[in-house]
Amino acid sequence: MDLELNPFTPGSGLRPPALEGRNDQIEAFDLLVARSKRRNYDRGMILSGLRGVGKTSLLNYLAHHADSQGWLTISIEGRPSSSGIAAVRNTLAQELSLGLRRYSRKQRLKDSVDDLIALARNFSVGVSVAGASVNVSAPRPQVDPGDIAIDLEELVEAICEVLRPRNSAFGLFIDEMQDLDQDLLTALLAVQHKANQRQWPFFVVGAGLPNLPAVLADCRSYAERQFLYSTIGPLASVDAADALRLPVQAHGGDFTSEALDVLVETSGGYPYFLQEYGKAIWNIAPGTPFELADALGAVEVGRRHLDDGFFPSRWDRATPRERKYLAAMSTLGEDQPRSAKVAEAMGSTAAGTSEVRDSAIKRGLIWSPERGRIAFTVPGMADFIRRQQLD
Ligand SMILES: Nc1ncnc2c1ncn2[C@@H]1O[C@H](COP(=O)(O)OP(=O)(O)OP(=O)(O)O)[C@@H](O)[C@H]1O
Ligand SMILES: [Mg+2]
Repeated sequence: MDLELNPFTPGSGLRPPALEGRNDQIEAFDLLVARSKRRNYDRGMILSGLRGVGKTSLLNYLAHHADSQGWLTISIEGRPSSSGIAAVRNTLAQELSLGLRRYSRKQRLKDSVDDLIALARNFSVGVSVAGASVNVSAPRPQVDPGDIAIDLEELVEAICEVLRPRNSAFGLFIDEMQDLDQDLLTALLAVQHKANQRQWPFFVVGAGLPNLPAVLADCRSYAERQFLYSTIGPLASVDAADALRLPVQAHGGDFTSEALDVLVETSGGYPYFLQEYGKAIWNIAPGTPFELADALGAVEVGRRHLDDGFFPSRWDRATPRERKYLAAMSTLGEDQPRSAKVAEAMGSTAAGTSEVRDSAIKRGLIWSPERGRIAFTVPGMADFIRRQQLD
């Protein structure tokens, strides 16, 4: 098929040609936005799930929807390293100023927003100072974490005072939220909490790895009640089939049912894999409808692409010792092995491996679905590691 017309989008946060299987989350958010227009304020939302499952795409979709409904929207992304922390704080400050400016242009509200932009600038000065101090080589000067909470609260309150009479709202969309630094996260949770109590139209909508709900709960016990939590999982078979079929049909093509079944089954319904196999079958099929032989070829090509890109981009991020830990996990052949068993496979003890386990969790490679158990955050990672070791 014509390569130029290939509609599939394997990648990070790329808007898929058909965003399938997320109606529950989209409807819940639509309702939140609709109710906010009547000044009925619900809780913010948290989306969590494995790598490549479509969190960023969904978060972007929701932000776009809120924006089109007259909200002030700001998007930021958490980063794990200490230099990343400074960058995130600076981005937040910058995005606030930019977002306010964009909003005032759209809503033609110059005067009232000028004051807010000035306030956001002040906030950015404070944040930048705190941010610049987060440096691995230099000792961190004492910056009172309370400051950022107070500044943020003041800013959010002032923004909400302008937005509320207009039946508008402020949405802060945070990707990779598990990687926000503790001070900023604590400040955000505190402000969201206050917003809920005081009827401010402020909503945090966060996305992150499966450990995100636990990270929030560890930060503030009330976080459990503060948000509507939603697990973003692989797509059900019908949705996975639509995610492949609809973009092809939009170009006048189709799949035979055997071909479609093979790709749905092989992908396990994981959006990233669906896009990769969809792209491959489009590229290799001589014509449409796509047939079983095309699908089998696409599985081979798609898997090679995954082995060259999606998996190594995670694997290469691990330190040698973390890789040993991941390799030991993969030898056990269980989805959620006990940490003690992984330690044993490494010839060590739970205590002896707790440090490497923690660092791999911080790096977002693995997570703990329940106490004493561990699992990959990347679907199919164990098979990938086993494939590497056979080579
Ligand atoms: N609902 C969906 N239906 C079909 N394809 C989707 C869907 N959601 C996302 N995709 C596609 O899946 C891929 C992964 O999406 P995305 O980057 O949003 O995942 P993610 O969960 O944010 O991954 P990561 O944890 O690595 O950041 C992209 O190529 C995107 O176009
Ligand atoms: Mg993402």
